[in-house]
Amino acid sequence: MAERLNIGLFGFGTVGRGLYDVLEETRLKEARIRRICVRNLNKDRGVDADFTDNPDDIFGDPAINLIVELIDDADASYRIVRRALEANIPVVTGNKKMLAYHLRELVELQRATGTPLLYDASACGSIPVIRNLEEYYDNDLLISVKGILNGSSNFILSKIFNENMSYPDALRMAQELGFAESDPSLDIDGFDSLFKLIIITLHAFGRYVEPERIFVYGISSMNDDDIRFATEKKRRIKLVAHVEKLQDGRMIMCVIPQLISRDKYIYSVEDEFNGVVIKGKFYYKQFMFGRGAGGYPTGSAVLSDIMACFYHYKYEYKKLNSESVPEYTDDFVFRIYLRYSADEDLALFRFRTIREKYVSETSKYVVGDISLHDLYTIRDDIRGRNLFVAAYPEN
Ligand SMILES: NC(=O)c1ccc[n+]([C@@H]2O[C@H](COP(=O)([O-])OP(=O)(O)OC[C@H]3O[C@@H](n4cnc5c(N)ncnc54)[C@H](OP(=O)(O)O)[C@@H]3O)[C@@H](O)[C@H]2O)c1
Repeated sequence: MAERLNIGLFGFGTVGRGLYDVLEETRLKEARIRRICVRNLNKDRGVDADFTDNPDDIFGDPAINLIVELIDDADASYRIVRRALEANIPVVTGNKKMLAYHLRELVELQRATGTPLLYDASACGSIPVIRNLEEYYDNDLLISVKGILNGSSNFILSKIFNENMSYPDALRMAQELGFAESDPSLDIDGFDSLFKLIIITLHAFGRYVEPERIFVYGISSMNDDDIRFATEKKRRIKLVAHVEKLQDGRMIMCVIPQLISRDKYIYSVEDEFNGVVIKGKFYYKQFMFGRGAGGYPTGSAVLSDIMACFYHYKYEYKKLNSESVPEYTDDFVFRIYLRYSADEDLALFRFRTIREKYVSETSKYVVGDISLHDLYTIRDDIRGRNLFVAAYPEN
């Protein structure tokens, strides 16, 4: 790497601007932004920088020796990252959606070109979870990674549970504060958490699983009955992403709201914060906590990747080649809470056991055991219906 990194930056939104300000304030001599490519050149950016709307102005500039890609368009992000790697220019990205769909081939491309792609900022904002999983946690000892990976939905849930705020007001506030993605359904329907889970799983267990294969369900249909149920049980609803290696060596993954009891670390993760619990065979549990979204926290994580590039750091993906890469399975039974309205909706769920059933004129719910596979099978049917599902683990 050269004496100084001359950055070609794509995107000047929440995170791009955050990175710009963090770099201005830290005044690092190792890195500076040379040119910024945006979509709309007519927007007033309020800073004295060299803007363009033509990617060729970045790729054609021989002085640029690092690409930092912070745009909200996953297809364009993929084209930029591929082009950078093929041109042997190291690249840093924050785009989890792009990574979740293309990680397998991007790992191969890094190997073929010998050029690094870093993306710690993509998984949990300011929490350095990827590099820790990559460097510190040994595959055989690691049992699970579980956490609140989406700051925006957690912010909304905190406002609802702690301040009795309405759902639309809480969502609007999350957007105004820059925590929500440009498309908020990515946050509240669980897809943002899913994308991060896929990235985390690759670094935790060496297995890449396509997004379409994983059960994902969010908080958009949660209502007052669900909040009341959780509160009566002294629990809180949190949107949890979860990967776990089972005793038979296989691995489950899912994103689902969970009724979390007070004794769990993630019970107290509030607002836009993220929390990740890493469980191992001998060290038991470790907890990482920090800001998972927002321009400055994410900008600072991007800066950390930039400096890692300066010092020639690369992900080695050691676990991909290990002999014990777990197979993905959804053959796993767990306890859920289901609030429903129509009996035909209840009939969609193939419960193995019903543990509790409540029916009144105004609300109906069931607590029972169901397999992840059966939930996955009905994933498209249950969206948009007047029902809500949450995992309800026994203590
Ligand atoms: N927001 C967060 O807290 C957060 C946290 C972690 C990761 N991320 C990830 O970081 C990335 C950026 O997020 P953000 O919240 O900063 O998005 P944002 O505020 O919506 O900004 C997006 C930026 O990308 C630019 N852009 C879009 N398409 C482009 C293209 N084809 N070529 C050049 N520029 C293009 C836009 O240009 P104009 O300004 O001209 O419209 C805008 O400056 C996303 O991948 C997101 O998932 C965000």
